[in-house]
Formats: sequence, structure tokens, C-alpha cells
Amino acid sequence: MMRWFSEWWRGGTAAVEPASVRDATRLAQLHAASFAHGWGESEFEVMLSERNTLVHRLRLGRKTIGFAVSRIGADEAEILSVAVDQSHRGRGLSRTLLMTHLGHLAGRGVRTIFLEVEENNQPARRLYDRGGFVVVGRRERYYKQANGEQLNALLMRRDLS
Ligand SMILES: CC(C)(COP(=O)(O)OP(=O)(O)OC[C@H]1O[C@@H](n2cnc3c(N)ncnc32)[C@H](O)[C@@H]1OP(=O)(O)O)[C@@H](O)C(=O)NCCC(=O)NCCS
Repeated sequence: MMRWFSEWWRGGTAAVEPASVRDATRLAQLHAASFAHGWGESEFEVMLSERNTLVHRLRLGRKTIGFAVSRIGADEAEILSVAVDQSHRGRGLSRTLLMTHLGHLAGRGVRTIFLEVEENNQPARRLYDRGGFVVVGRRERYYKQANGEQLNALLMRRDLS
């Protein structure tokens, strides 16, 4: 009873599911709210219809509150984006999302995964460290902010065995 109440209070049970073209509007909203250069609905529509792009949505109850996007090439993949809606951050939901996404990449035959993360993005750095990624490179002044600030990127890698 307490567990049911606690889940209800938090908005329902979290589930990670394959996203479809019908999710494009919501995913574009989430992306725009999370990144300086948001991807539009049409960009999501294209990615959601491509065979080499894997997109998962994170659902809490009836609401989509996050997503993970990867592009697959042979036995390698690149994680292009991961985000959780601001009002649901800090509850460990991104870990559930990432680990499920990695499991599906492994199921598609992916052996090595790369990603880029802004050096000072501590929640993302923690997420990827805990997810088994290691830093393999650094790109100086890689991201350009709207205010002109330039931020460094770390290149991270994880091997799936
Ligand atoms: C990165 C992001 C997906 C993490 O989502 P989340 O559900 O809030 O993450 P979690 O609650 O699973 O926390 C992840 C880790 O970051 C830590 N963390 C959370 N907020 C933090 C903060 N402000 N400073 C430092 N660490 C923080 C958590 O403690 C956790 O580490 P732990 O497992 O060692 O305890 C989310 O912050 C987000 O959407 N950010 C904007 C988009 C983005 O930057 N995406 C990643 C780059 S592609």
C-alpha cells in the first residue's frame, strides 16, 4: 500500500519504451527545454523514422518526461542526447533510462559506445561515470553558448561485452 501511494505521489511508475514518430512533438519540447540548441519536431521525426537511430522515451504514468537518442553504425554507436524533464531530475530516473538504452544497443549488436559531454555538466558526468563510461578525449571550446561562452567537451567511451 505504501509503495503504491509513493509511486502515485511521484506521478506513477517509470517505464522506458521505444519512441515512435508520434512522440516527436513532446521530445522536441523536452530537448528545447534542456539544451541551448534545441532540436525541432521535424528533426525528431526524421530520427524516429531512421533505422540506424535508436530512441527511447522515459514515461512516468501517462507523461513522457525524458528520452535517449543514439545513432548506430556497424558495431559502434554514439549517444546523441539524453534528457530528463527538469521537474523530475535528481531522482535517479536518468540511470534507468540510460541502462535500458544501453541494453537495447547491445541487443542491436553494438560493442562500443561513444558520447560527448560538456566538461562541467556534473549530473551528466556522474550519470555516464556510473554507467561505465570512461573519458578518452577532450575537445577545447567545443560548445558555443548563446552568450558567446565556449565550453570544453569530453569524449567518453564504453565497451559492451
Ligand atoms: C543529465 C540528466 C539527464 C540527469 O538526469 P537525472 O534524472 O536528474 O539524473 P539522476 O537523478 O539519475 O542523477 C545522476 C547523477 O548526477 C548527480 N547529480 C544530480 N544533480 C547534480 C548536481 N546538480 N551536481 C552534481 N551532481 C548531480 C546525482 O546525484 C547522480 O549521481 P549518483 O548516481 O552518483 O547519485 C539531466 O540533468 C538533464 O536532462 N540535463 C539536461 C540535459 C543534459 O545535460 N543531458 C546530458 C548531456 S547529453
